[in-house]
Amino acid sequence: MKNYIKADEWKIIEEGFDPLLNKISESIFSLGNGRMGQRANFEESYTGDTLQGNYIAGVYYPDKTRVGWWKNGYPESLAKVINAASWIGLDISVDGETLDLAQAEVSNFRRELNMREGYLLRSFTARLKSGKTLEVTAQRFCSIANDEVAALRYNITPVDFSGTIKLTAFIDGDVINQDSNYGEKFWEQVEGKLSDNEAYLTLRTKKTAFEVCTGTSVSVFKGKEQVHPEMEAVYKEKYLGQTFNMACSPEDTLSICKVAANLSSENHPKDLLMAHCRQVVQAAAALGFEQLLQAQVAAWASKWQESDIVIEGDVAAQQAIRFNIFQLFQTYTGKDDRLNIGPKGFTGEKYGGSTFWDTEAYCLPFYLATAEPAVGRNLLIYRYKQLDKAIENAEKLGFKNGAALYPMVTMNGEECHNEWEITFEEIHRNGAIAFAIYNYIRYTGDEAYMADYGLEVLIAIARFWKQRVNWSNDKHRYVILGVTGPNEYENNVDNNWYTNLMASWCLKYAAEAVYQVKMQLPKQYRQLAGKLDFKEKELADWAVIVEKMYYPQDPKRGIFLQQDGYLDKEPLTVKHLSASDRPLNQKWSWDRILRSCFIKQADVLQGLYFFEEDYDLETIRRNFDYYEPKTVHESSLSPCVHSILAAKLNDEARAYEFYLRTARLDLDDYNNDTEDGLHITSMAGTWMSIVEGFAGMRVREGQLQFNPFLPGKWEAFSFSILFRGARLNIRITEHGIKIKNDSAVPLTVKVRESTRQLAAYGEIKADDSMIWPVM
Ligand code: BGC
Repeated sequence: MKNYIKADEWKIIEEGFDPLLNKISESIFSLGNGRMGQRANFEESYTGDTLQGNYIAGVYYPDKTRVGWWKNGYPESLAKVINAASWIGLDISVDGETLDLAQAEVSNFRRELNMREGYLLRSFTARLKSGKTLEVTAQRFCSIANDEVAALRYNITPVDFSGTIKLTAFIDGDVINQDSNYGEKFWEQVEGKLSDNEAYLTLRTKKTAFEVCTGTSVSVFKGKEQVHPEMEAVYKEKYLGQTFNMACSPEDTLSICKVAANLSSENHPKDLLMAHCRQVVQAAAALGFEQLLQAQVAAWASKWQESDIVIEGDVAAQQAIRFNIFQLFQTYTGKDDRLNIGPKGFTGEKYGGSTFWDTEAYCLPFYLATAEPAVGRNLLIYRYKQLDKAIENAEKLGFKNGAALYPMVTMNGEECHNEWEITFEEIHRNGAIAFAIYNYIRYTGDEAYMADYGLEVLIAIARFWKQRVNWSNDKHRYVILGVTGPNEYENNVDNNWYTNLMASWCLKYAAEAVYQVKMQLPKQYRQLAGKLDFKEKELADWAVIVEKMYYPQDPKRGIFLQQDGYLDKEPLTVKHLSASDRPLNQKWSWDRILRSCFIKQADVLQGLYFFEEDYDLETIRRNFDYYEPKTVHESSLSPCVHSILAAKLNDEARAYEFYLRTARLDLDDYNNDTEDGLHITSMAGTWMSIVEGFAGMRVREGQLQFNPFLPGKWEAFSFSILFRGARLNIRITEHGIKIKNDSAVPLTVKVRESTRQLAAYGEIKADDSMIWPVM
């Protein structure tokens, strides 16, 4: 755990340069705009410890899987979003000495991520070995207004000398991925072009043949005046540089502005890629840094208007939630249904930028409530478009009749995990994909989605479960053998309660969807049934499985069993672990972990969270009280579900405690792994802890409900959401709740047990008689 980020409501601030924290800060201060992103690497040379990262959404490399003994069913490759050409590069040297913060004496170092306006600012003073001192201020952003564009401005002031500063602005595509399985470089050069102030470099990925053109337009200023020093070109393998020699003195600040664009062949024809890149770069350069920045500020202002959470009386919590929201929007903007949300977003290589069940189980609620429905819908369409691949995945495993098994880890629809027994066996992910359809329709009311897309996916998923269960003569029930549940600290178990529940729910929901579409849109239904060769007899088979599904439970303790053998484990709780045992996944052998009763993340409780309406409070409480003490929360996805359930159980203190574990997870480097990248998908869980946990927001029968409490440390909190065309602001104080409708759409909402009409542009407040529990 670290504590070096300064508290501020809208900014993330680091003061003082500590090379040991650099990789953590590179993650925390990352920038992105949904189409590209980068770690907060320095513009100038740096020979210290760094993880270089520039990423282009949708551009990946299938890195051949590395395993000891190959077995049928292993994926050929692990797709990785790859480190791409860096557009930020600037080499600065004074009398032959390169500015490098690993070598210079650094003072006044400050990094600031301005979340309200969407840019990164860095300043420092560097005394070179020669004794000459420079002051530098660097500002940059990835434009959210035009997501192919980025820009930087780099100011250098010689403090105590006059002389010549040599500046080389470059694009460097000769980059590596730290986690390349065979140490390979993934890019080859297609074309590079350079003029006095522009540079264009097109690279192609090996195997996948994606092409990306990175272009820059450079302008140099002395004071406020633009100057045109002579340019010396530098050509190297996958590298283009423009060198300028500039006479300077303490009165002159030298500024270099780089306006950049990254265009990918996913969005432009390859033969026009460089020409299009030139157009984008020139149009952006014509606007200039200041105007581009103004557009950035305006674009972020409108995002914040729809999504901000304001916490009064707790700056650290305020900073944290804004950081989470900011990073989620930097990662995914919902404009392109081919893109998704990697667990690390654009902030690191871990998890390869691939899509996991995290999207459906954790991220979707955030985007549903804070963006237009098209954004959440695109997350669903992403899976719809990959249905054929999911069917192929299932066929490879021997399933038939259009059964689909969605991958646990994917880029293009193919399974590409690298840990078979853990990841592959987590077939519960199929359930999360079905649940997302339910959740999307429940929130948006977009019933047409079901007939147009949802049903086809649901039928394919139901067909999978139908074939994946088997009848146990012994139990006289359907069982599901050989799975890994959400708790990855048990593999290849039988009858994981959560998986069995999900399977059965999917079959029931798919059947309901069939009946509904058949009744409401008979023609569309017939067409789909024809296309899928769907026979209604399948419904009868599904119904039998639903009726006869086996759910392991322990009547004595009144709990559901995580899996058949769970009670055979030595019954310990986390209190039995010492600090030196934690985290288990770093300190214990895998064998010991698998045999232990310790749980990585919500498993039975994940099921109770999804389907809370089906269980009474006492059942939820018993399971919570049994499982939580055994849970080590070593997945960042874990605390949020516990926080929401604790809030539901009126245990406000614990709800807040779990929330704290997720909210500043990266800012305080809680798990000692922020240097690998940020936990983007769990950031959505942090948002859920506040909105679903503390505010108790739910959608039931098409209506919003609130069941709020105010964490004791906070004076008030408020948040904005979009719901079925209405824009609401909800404020919770110790006196109650106020809901303001900032739109022309009237709504009915429920606050605790009382149903209230919320007129267009109207406002409702909680009844005075309500008692607000305060921690
Ligand atoms: C969790 C999974 C999750 C993955 C990616 C793992 O540590 O156990 O549930 O999908 O990380 O976030």
